[in-house]
Amino acid sequence: MAVSSITVRPITPLQGAEIGGVDLNDLTPAQEADICQVLTDRKAIVFRDQKISPERFAMFMHLFGKPVDEDLEPIDGNPRNVGVIHIRANEKQTINFWHMDHSFRADPAPKLALYTKTLPECGGDTLFASLESAYDGLSDEMKERIAPLWAIHQVRPTQNSRRRYTDAEFQAMMERKTRHPLVGWNPENGRKFLFVNTPVYLRYVDGMDPAESEALLDELYRHVQRPEYSFRLVWRPDTLVVWENAHCLHYPVADYFPHERKLLRVAITGEPIAAVPAP
Ligand SMILES: [Fe+2]
Repeated sequence: MAVSSITVRPITPLQGAEIGGVDLNDLTPAQEADICQVLTDRKAIVFRDQKISPERFAMFMHLFGKPVDEDLEPIDGNPRNVGVIHIRANEKQTINFWHMDHSFRADPAPKLALYTKTLPECGGDTLFASLESAYDGLSDEMKERIAPLWAIHQVRPTQNSRRRYTDAEFQAMMERKTRHPLVGWNPENGRKFLFVNTPVYLRYVDGMDPAESEALLDELYRHVQRPEYSFRLVWRPDTLVVWENAHCLHYPVADYFPHERKLLRVAITGEPIAAVPAP
């Protein structure tokens, strides 16, 4: 790691870190290098008490790749690469299950970030689970069983996707099947990860008997949800989190109805999921 002034506080032994001693408006090259390294090591990094503009948020995210223009229309005058996750007052949040964004695409966003705008007085936490930790926690028998398998991902409508695409775009997306390895490989640290997602998106193991496939994916999806692999982010005003979307699942807790919750989001341009290289 480069030597800089940042402080790193692990959130659990396996994943998550709060990074202090930085102002995201003004980073030195050494701080930037350290932040990238901590993200690779910990899968999700949390910054507190950051007062930054939507423009600066998007600029900061260039550290991790190229931010995507993702929304149909700019929202609240924000740059096009700054999206909004907005649950309005008296609206129920319905994506309260463990999932990864975009696994139905050939190139899911490798990194995502959220920054607080409007929070309920309490609640609305987000949990993050490391798929690298989850892979490491599998039995040797299971690792061997899933090593050669690939799975089919396909989109279904969700609360956020409906706002983000036109009907025609969404119809075309729903017909598209995407094949990913069940065990991915992270070239940044050489670790394997268990590439599973909610059954909403992860449909079946390619070439496997449907009942066997359902039982296997159900077992793996439940395995990832073991608390040892995750941490819980309690939001406070001016909190920013960056996480490796393709190596994590996240769970937005829907316990704050009827209150409003609004977060700014930046997604990094997608990349294919790498399979484990042949020995
Ligand atoms: Fe999500």
